[in-house]
Amino acid sequence: MNANIAVIKGDGIGPEVVTEAMKVLDAVGTKYGHTFNYEQLLMGGCSIDAYGDPLTDETVAKAKAADAVLLGSIGGNTSTSPWYKLPPNKRPEAGLLKIRKELGLFANLRPALLYDQLKDACPLKKEIADRGFDMLIMRELTGGLYFGERKTEEIDGVMTAIDTLTYTEKEIRRIAIKAFDIAMKRRKKVTSVDKANVLDSSRLWRKIVEEVAKDYPEVSYEHMLVDNAAMQLVKDPAQFDVVLTENMFGDILSDEASMITGSIGMLSSASLNETKFGLYEPSGGSAPDIAGQGIANPIATILSAAMMLRFTFDLDKEADAIEQAVKQVLVEGYRTGDIMSDGCKKVGTLKMGDLIAARV
Ligand code: IPM
Ligand code: MG
Repeated sequence: MNANIAVIKGDGIGPEVVTEAMKVLDAVGTKYGHTFNYEQLLMGGCSIDAYGDPLTDETVAKAKAADAVLLGSIGGNTSTSPWYKLPPNKRPEAGLLKIRKELGLFANLRPALLYDQLKDACPLKKEIADRGFDMLIMRELTGGLYFGERKTEEIDGVMTAIDTLTYTEKEIRRIAIKAFDIAMKRRKKVTSVDKANVLDSSRLWRKIVEEVAKDYPEVSYEHMLVDNAAMQLVKDPAQFDVVLTENMFGDILSDEASMITGSIGMLSSASLNETKFGLYEPSGGSAPDIAGQGIANPIATILSAAMMLRFTFDLDKEADAIEQAVKQVLVEGYRTGDIMSDGCKKVGTLKMGDLIAARV
């Protein structure tokens, strides 16, 4: 296969971790006879520095023309970086939201899985960690509070800020279908998370999820309030298979889910539209505090590249090879600092990439 991948390394640790994912992809290419062509694009802070804009229309067009996008991370330190003195729509995050919207990437898949080898890095009680967990958070990505109207204005001498949370029936249905479809390939359980005891958008969410569920008699489903879901994630994460939720709840719960896997550096993600096109990125941020030190964990980005092979290119065998290689280095005791535990061998970003690439 000859695949065209737009690569956005981005800011902070982005360039370091994406370089390792490309190394692993190239190892897959060599072994299985594929060519991955990369076109490097700018987004986020580095694009502000180069073009005065976190995401230019030209970059959007190039990303659209590719088969898939591999992304590192964007943004800097929000209290010290000059990027955060700019108006909100000119900051690094605006680029990320724009690319999600422009490419129609409404389905964000964030798998959170506890590897046996990382049980010691899991912050939960031993008896909970010992039960393990393997869930997939299906986060709606182009609606809700992130894209609703917002403004800050003075009303009767009082500063007032408004954000709006809107969901249409259509937006809910298409993400619910994605969740039930993927549940059919997993353990056939969907937990739909909402705040239906307070929010109208959640009550509509529940109604539509119930309608969609009728088409999937083999999938068991339940509704869970988001505050309870936050609690259940640390109390009994093994109960979850597919967790379906709206944009903001998914943002928050996926960080929580990543932490219990041992480190946010382990969590991959795929953002998909209605076609085979996808944008693949680690769920963690740009970690400006450790950028450039060669210590960031590249595994989330490498696993995101595996998701790209699986979802965009239908290369299941190759995706399995990457996932197996990751497991293998963990079994052999190699760890980056974030997942380090006693008796293991501590390695940096580059070495971790080399080890995984050598095992695909
Ligand atoms: C994520 C990030 C983004 C989000 C930020 C950087 C805008 O936290 O992908 O989870 O909130 O979606
Ligand atoms: Mg987030």
